[in-house]
Amino acid sequence: MYRTDNRGSSGIGAIYADRLARRGHDLILVARNREQLRMLATRLIDETGRSVEILPADLSNKTDLVSVEHVLRANAGLTMLVNNAGVAMSGDLASADPDQLERMVQVNVLAPSRLALAAIPPFVTRGRGTLINISSVLALAPERSHGRYSGTKAYLLNLSLRLHQEVASKGVRVQVVLPGATRTAIWEKAGTDIATLPRGIVMDADDMVDAALAGLDRGEVVTIPALPDMADWEAYEAARQHLLPHLSLSSPAARYGVGSSGDHLVPASS
Ligand SMILES: NC(=O)c1ccc[n+]([C@@H]2O[C@H](COP(=O)([O-])OP(=O)(O)OC[C@H]3O[C@@H](n4cnc5c(N)ncnc54)[C@H](OP(=O)(O)O)[C@@H]3O)[C@@H](O)[C@H]2O)c1
Repeated sequence: MYRTDNRGSSGIGAIYADRLARRGHDLILVARNREQLRMLATRLIDETGRSVEILPADLSNKTDLVSVEHVLRANAGLTMLVNNAGVAMSGDLASADPDQLERMVQVNVLAPSRLALAAIPPFVTRGRGTLINISSVLALAPERSHGRYSGTKAYLLNLSLRLHQEVASKGVRVQVVLPGATRTAIWEKAGTDIATLPRGIVMDADDMVDAALAGLDRGEVVTIPALPDMADWEAYEAARQHLLPHLSLSSPAARYGVGSSGDHLVPASS
């Protein structure tokens, strides 16, 4: 039996739940709104015949979060975790509400990290399992974000790339999805009218999730549903990799004209 923990009651999460149930997964749905969870579960059970449990929890609350972690650890049939829950904030950084900022970090950063840490060790022991983290293209574009949201999504991208490196050889899949603007309630909740965005940059949530699952089927680690040419991502990654050997050296760069600048450029044999 497949058991999937797909976290979400509306928006992108609800569509993941729909698609995964239709792919034959049983589900555990996590979100705060019990009634929305119940309605989604009832519909999915009726339409797909799968088992769909609900687990109402506020992932910004440590007690609730730990109880979800216990469910993941105790579930020997868990095959997939979709870290979907997320919140956005708009407005200037300088005028941000620090408590709201803290809740966003709890939901967007701490919760997916702790849930991944609960799911991954059993996946590794069993030699199979899939973790899907929903990041955002704003992970790559802080100048188009209000900074803090972008930062939480960049964290999730980095976490996913590192986890993939650690567990891929152990039979465990990690996929990080970077949606662009997607038509869901998240915009309104963050105080932005999605109708103000150019139509050409907003994707329907169904299309976004279908593309992300197609990316999963293709074995992608990073899936950017809107990006026409994956070679562009590969070029970006190659440029980043090119930097790596030069980022930490014993001397400051020669252009600063301090310390033993330039020593590292001299071949050892000279
Ligand atoms: N829509 C976009 O343009 C877009 C673009 C890039 C990335 N994303 C990412 O996609 C993911 C899904 O977002 P969405 O667009 O589908 O937004 P959404 O419609 O607002 O859905 C957010 C989901 O997260 C749950 N959630 C929020 N706070 C929670 C909390 N404290 N505890 C438990 N569950 C919580 C919500 O359920 P409850 O409210 O019932 O708790 C809901 O199921 C997020 O990670 C978001 O950052 C969205």
